[in-house]
Amino acid sequence: MSPPVFLLIIIFMFINLSQGMQMPYMTSDPKEISGKSFDYIVVGGGTAGCSIAATLSDKFSVLVIERGGSPFGDPLVEERKYFGYSLLKTDEYSSVAQSFTSRDGIENYRGRVLGGSSAINGGFYSRASEEFIKKAGWDKNLVQDSYKWVESKVVFMPQLTQWQSVVQFGFLEAGFFPYNGYSLEHTQGTKIGGSIYDQCGKRHTSADLLGFGKPNCITVLLNATVKSVIFDGNKTRAVGVRFMKSDGDSSKTYKAHVEKHRGEVILAAGSLGSPHILLLSGIGPENHLNDFDIPVTVNLKQVGRKMSDNPGISLLVDRFSQNRTLEPPQVAAIAEDYKFILESEVFPTNLTTTRISIAAKIAFPKSRGRLKLNSTNPRENPSVKFNYLESKEDLDACLEMVLLLQHVARSETVTLFLGTQTQEKLLGGDEELKSFCKDNVRTYYHYHGGCVVGSVVDEDYKVNGVKRLRVIDGSTFEESPGTNPMATVLMLGRYQGIKILRERETEEKEEDKRFLSPQGSPQPQP
Ligand SMILES: Cc1cc2nc3c(=O)[nH]c(=O)nc-3n(C[C@H](O)[C@H](O)[C@H](O)COP(=O)(O)OP(=O)(O)OC[C@H]3O[C@@H](n4cnc5c(N)ncnc54)[C@H](O)[C@@H]3O)c2cc1C
Ligand SMILES: *[C@@H]1O[C@H](CO)[C@@H](O)[C@H](O)[C@H]1NC(C)=O
Ligand SMILES: *[C@@H]1O[C@H](CO)[C@@H](O)[C@H](O)[C@H]1NC(C)=O
Ligand SMILES: *[C@@H]1O[C@H](CO)[C@@H](O)[C@H](O)[C@H]1NC(C)=O
Ligand SMILES: *[C@@H]1O[C@H](CO)[C@@H](O)[C@H](O)[C@H]1NC(C)=O
Ligand SMILES: *[C@@H]1O[C@H](CO)[C@@H](O)[C@H](O)[C@H]1NC(C)=O
Repeated sequence: MSPPVFLLIIIFMFINLSQGMQMPYMTSDPKEISGKSFDYIVVGGGTAGCSIAATLSDKFSVLVIERGGSPFGDPLVEERKYFGYSLLKTDEYSSVAQSFTSRDGIENYRGRVLGGSSAINGGFYSRASEEFIKKAGWDKNLVQDSYKWVESKVVFMPQLTQWQSVVQFGFLEAGFFPYNGYSLEHTQGTKIGGSIYDQCGKRHTSADLLGFGKPNCITVLLNATVKSVIFDGNKTRAVGVRFMKSDGDSSKTYKAHVEKHRGEVILAAGSLGSPHILLLSGIGPENHLNDFDIPVTVNLKQVGRKMSDNPGISLLVDRFSQNRTLEPPQVAAIAEDYKFILESEVFPTNLTTTRISIAAKIAFPKSRGRLKLNSTNPRENPSVKFNYLESKEDLDACLEMVLLLQHVARSETVTLFLGTQTQEKLLGGDEELKSFCKDNVRTYYHYHGGCVVGSVVDEDYKVNGVKRLRVIDGSTFEESPGTNPMATVLMLGRYQGIKILRERETEEKEEDKRFLSPQGSPQPQP
């Protein structure tokens, strides 16, 4: 017996409704966009960029320019069973993850696809602490609403995988109390965080958010790299951007403009991308721009300064076990008065073997570094140095962190689960711990800074010294939100988008008032 046709139709409609949400128009042909104007141009369709674009589309036309391709239907992005593979499979100009090595010698990654780093990351979702939000001077209620907007769309409660349950007990055995269960809040102790992987193991990136604004007001140009911002004749305001195809002929340049009256260019190209584009647009330290013969638009010394990355240490607890199921982090310990964040994952080392490590980061490191140009090619990585563990405080914190990690690695739960055969020798003594830290420091991928609020952008995220240009992404953080930053970057896009909508509404009302008042009444055109 076959099921009745109407039932099939209903099932089919349901599948269509849940999967086929309306997405904006996307193209990879720069000629389609060349010469056009939009209310807003968002540079970089990453974690913050998609969130901003979706929000602004409610009232305005938005162009998103993303150097990478589409995440939709790409198993390397979407499927949890391939978690981490995108980092193994990188190339110079087209892979979804672009690798870079900082001048400290540490290997690192940046997203290069619509969805940005939310398409290649661990997917662990955790809000910033109340204290962080207070310090940033943000409106608490709007922050709450913005987090909730994001969470209702791309955040899920994970079902603990096998190793994550073991680690959770390991954290508790090591004394990271209280146990907070499933929580999106950044509070001390051990918790299960949110995830952008859903219950079926499918990743939802920030690109999904584009379906929740007014998709028909958004145009997405993929596979196009922005070279620089265009300014008006006397360099007082941004009027558009220059871009080129990400692959193919780089000498062919195209332009798009923002609407004359109030249009803006918003950089959301990430902590490496946004300071990079500012420098290529002549906004940065004069001497450095002179070295590359870039005409100075604004001599802004702080561009590329205050680059920071949270130093991480990971202790291998199971080296190259056959092929365990890959596990993104789901459980975290927030330890020693918010100083350290501990997590664990099962990560691929190649197509057949996996590695399990227990890792921790210093939440608020003191060391700062710098980003500089290495060439004027916008497709190449800029050069960046983070100066890991340069400050004595960071090095001291690292020693403490290694001891905590050893507690977890030696906990009964972890040893029982893995057996003891793979245990590294126990470290002790300041000198031994110090050299271990220096030799093994790594990234937790939470690098930030370069266009910091208060030095490169003002409180409204407007670039100092020029009008109609903002930066809204992880590059504006002087400190990372303590916890994993993605939640707060997604929130920031929504939050600043709403602020811009409100700002324009106020301005337009005032303009109407002037327009209607007797003195200011417009003269008839000759
Ligand atoms: C491997 C890895 C794992 C991580 N794990 C986690 C985690 O589990 N939880 C968590 O909270 N955080 C995690 N993070 C950190 C988090 O993902 C990032 O901090 C956050 O996504 C940064 O957002 P962003 O908007 O600043 O930049 P991005 O999301 O990187 O977006 C920048 C976008 O701009 C585009 N772009 C850059 N230059 C140009 C140009 N010239 N023209 C056009 N487009 C351009 C890029 O292609 C990219 O799409 C991880 C990061 C990495 C790399
Ligand atoms: C866009 O770039 C991606 C990644 O490099 C590539 O797979 C895709 O084919 C490109 N699309 C077009 C239309 O050029
Ligand atoms: C230059 O700036 C002045 C004042 O800011 C403005 O009135 C003028 O129109 C600008 N000129 C050009 C060519 O943009
Ligand atoms: C390893 O993975 C392959 C393919 O997914 C599977 O067939 C095999 O059973 C796995 N082996 C182990 C030891 O888990
Ligand atoms: C994967 O890595 C392991 C450990 O380094 C190595 O022994 C193995 O040969 C590698 N396999 C492949 C297919 O590269
Ligand atoms: C800078 O460019 C040079 C030459 O193009 C290259 O050899 C070097 O690796 C680059 N450095 C970085 C940090 O990318």
